[in-house]
Amino acid sequence: MILIDGKKAAAELRAELKEEVAELRSKHNKVPGLTVILIGDLTPSQIYVRNKEKSANEVGLKSEVIKYPDTVEEKTVLEKIQELNSDETVSGILVQLPLPKHIDKQKVIEAIDPSKDVDGFHPMNVGNLSSGYESSIPCTPLGCYLLIKKIEPNLNGKKAVIVGRSNLNGKPMTQLLLKENCTVTITHSKTKDLKAECLEADIIVAAVGIPELVRGDWVKKDAVVIDVGINKTDSGIVGDVHFDEVSKNAKALTPVPGGVGPMTIACLLKNTIDCFKRSQIK
Ligand code: GUN
Repeated sequence: MILIDGKKAAAELRAELKEEVAELRSKHNKVPGLTVILIGDLTPSQIYVRNKEKSANEVGLKSEVIKYPDTVEEKTVLEKIQELNSDETVSGILVQLPLPKHIDKQKVIEAIDPSKDVDGFHPMNVGNLSSGYESSIPCTPLGCYLLIKKIEPNLNGKKAVIVGRSNLNGKPMTQLLLKENCTVTITHSKTKDLKAECLEADIIVAAVGIPELVRGDWVKKDAVVIDVGINKTDSGIVGDVHFDEVSKNAKALTPVPGGVGPMTIACLLKNTIDCFKRSQIK
C-alpha cells in the first residue's frame, strides 16, 4: 500500500511556488498578495488563518490578515471587500468561513471580484469550472486532485466515486475528475447502497464528515482512496475512511492528518499566484 504523503507533496509544491514567486518578482518587480479576512475568534479559524499567513510568507507572497470582532456589521465587511477588489497589490481575497449568523455568506462570497476569488466559491468560478473554462478551483478538491494525479497520472475511463455532495468538496471534485475523463458517481446520505457504489470505484474521495464511514470491505483492491474528513472523536482526530481496514486493501491511501490537509493551504498559495498571473496578462 502506498501511503500518500500530503505533507511531503505540499512541501514540494511550496518549493515550486517559492521559485515561481521569485521569478515573478524579477519579471514584474512585484509579488502576488493574499488578503485574508477573519471575523470572530473561533479557535479552528484562527489556527487555519495563522497557518495560511505563515505559508504565504514562506513562499514570498505579500500577506495580510484583517481581523474583525464577531459583532462587525455586514456592511463594514462588504465595504472592505470593495476596497480590496480595487487594490492592485491584492491578488487574492479569502474570507474565512464560517461567518457569524448575522452576516450573509453568499452576499460576502459574491462581493469578491471573481478574478481575486482564491477559494473558487464565487458563482462565476463555480460556473466556469463546471463548463470547463479557466477558473479558480476550491483549494481542498484541487489538493485531492493533485494527490490523485501523483498516483494515477492517466485517469482516462477510471471509475471515481465521490462520497459527499458539498459545494466545498464533492461537487468541484466531480468537475475536476470529469475533466480527466473519469466516470464519476456522486454519492451522499440518501444513496441506497453506498458500499456497493464504493466497491465499483478505482478512485474514492470521501468528503462527507462521518467518522470512519468507508470500511475495508467497501474498497476494491488497487483503489486509490482520498480521505478529506477531519472528525474529532473520543479517540482523537479521524477521517471519513477507516484507515486500518482500508490500508489493507487499497493501492494508495491518504492518512489523517498529514494527507489532504497540508495540500489545501499549498493550493491556496497556488491559486493566489495564478490570480496574480492572470491579472498581469490582462
Ligand atoms: N473554512 C474552512 N475551510 C475553508 C476554506 O477552504 N475557505 C474558507 N474561506 N474558509 C474555510
